[in-house]
Amino acid sequence: MKFFIDTANVDEIREAADMGIICGVTTNPSLIAKEGRDYAETLKEITTIVDGPISGEVKATTTDAEGMIREGREIAALHPNMVVKIPMTAEGLKAIKVLNSEGIKTNCTLIFTANQALLAARAGATYVSPFLGRLDDISTTGIDLIYDIVEIFANYEDIDTQIICASVRNPLHIIECAKSGADIATVPFKVLMQMMNHPLTDAGIEKFKEDYTKVFGE
Ligand code: G3P
Repeated sequence: MKFFIDTANVDEIREAADMGIICGVTTNPSLIAKEGRDYAETLKEITTIVDGPISGEVKATTTDAEGMIREGREIAALHPNMVVKIPMTAEGLKAIKVLNSEGIKTNCTLIFTANQALLAARAGATYVSPFLGRLDDISTTGIDLIYDIVEIFANYEDIDTQIICASVRNPLHIIECAKSGADIATVPFKVLMQMMNHPLTDAGIEKFKEDYTKVFGE
């Protein structure tokens, strides 16, 4: 399973890119708004940091296919790595169909059922983003959705839509996503750090340091 980072914060993106652990970035209207910066400028800067798929979402206020297609073309024109993130609606599916026919990559977001994922794949989405954490939030086991989509997509050779596990909230989500065989997990910076840290690693480093300096000094 590959990792994307789920943030619009360029410092976090740079830090994760420097560690070599991510090969793409996903953003959404809430994440971009949190940074309080110009939308296109932020996306452009991100393309200079990571040489991989960068999802930029159409405006949260744009709900018609025509508007999404227009904005999608603008987002795609920012950089060849841009992927247009489109919400799962009937209008969104129409936009995905047109953008796909123009060779523009899309990421269908706000997927909460396997049926939605199948429709997005058939419309021509390059990626689907099922949201685990938000299902867990309403007492529905989010990871079951990921397993279902992985199993269903594997049944059909002509589906090459990739699955991005989104709304990932903790390291256990990551283990489950990886076990399911999903293609990608898009992970907040905080969770990437939680994956890396272990108290026994920290204790081991301290012990090596202590033993080494006792004999060799600094
Ligand atoms: O980018 C979409 C998704 O990852 C958002 O996650 O935590 O706001 O449900 P969350």
